[in-house]
Amino acid sequence: MLSKKMEEILNLQVGKEAYASALYLAMASWAEKKGYEGISEWFYAQSEEEREHMLKFLRYVNERGGHGIVPLVDQPPVEFKDVKNVFDASLEHEQMVTRSINEIVGLALEEKDFITHNWIQWFVQEQLEEESSVQGIIDKLNMLEGKSLYVFDRDIMKIRGAGEEGAE
Ligand code: FEO
Repeated sequence: MLSKKMEEILNLQVGKEAYASALYLAMASWAEKKGYEGISEWFYAQSEEEREHMLKFLRYVNERGGHGIVPLVDQPPVEFKDVKNVFDASLEHEQMVTRSINEIVGLALEEKDFITHNWIQWFVQEQLEEESSVQGIIDKLNMLEGKSLYVFDRDIMKIRGAGEEGAE
């Protein structure tokens, strides 16, 4: 059974994952409208993953005797300056999520809730992978130094595939 405090922080995380899903959906839609097919596919896939994260938290709360709450989600930005700006915003968001997952790990240790501590390790690893995957994309964008985004856009989904194979 979760403590009230743990239930609350996990439900806050449900909201953060839901916002991440909406944010990446907004980025996907922006990229699609700009004609960046690969980048939009990348963000559509990312948005789906975040929805899965949200579900994992929500269902874990229910599984442990709490009540997973479906959150009200703020509207994400509609416009972005450019592709680099989109990925910078995405990295910033992932770093915020990592800090918030760390808070949960900290509380689990404080409460000696080793079930939650064990369960959340999947997210600890996931955050490591997500941050490094977005950072890798930003590094590649920096290499372009303002040159054509065409090849980058064409190949971005291959980078995603390679990362996922490595993770499994
Ligand atoms: Fe679910 Fe990308 O954090």
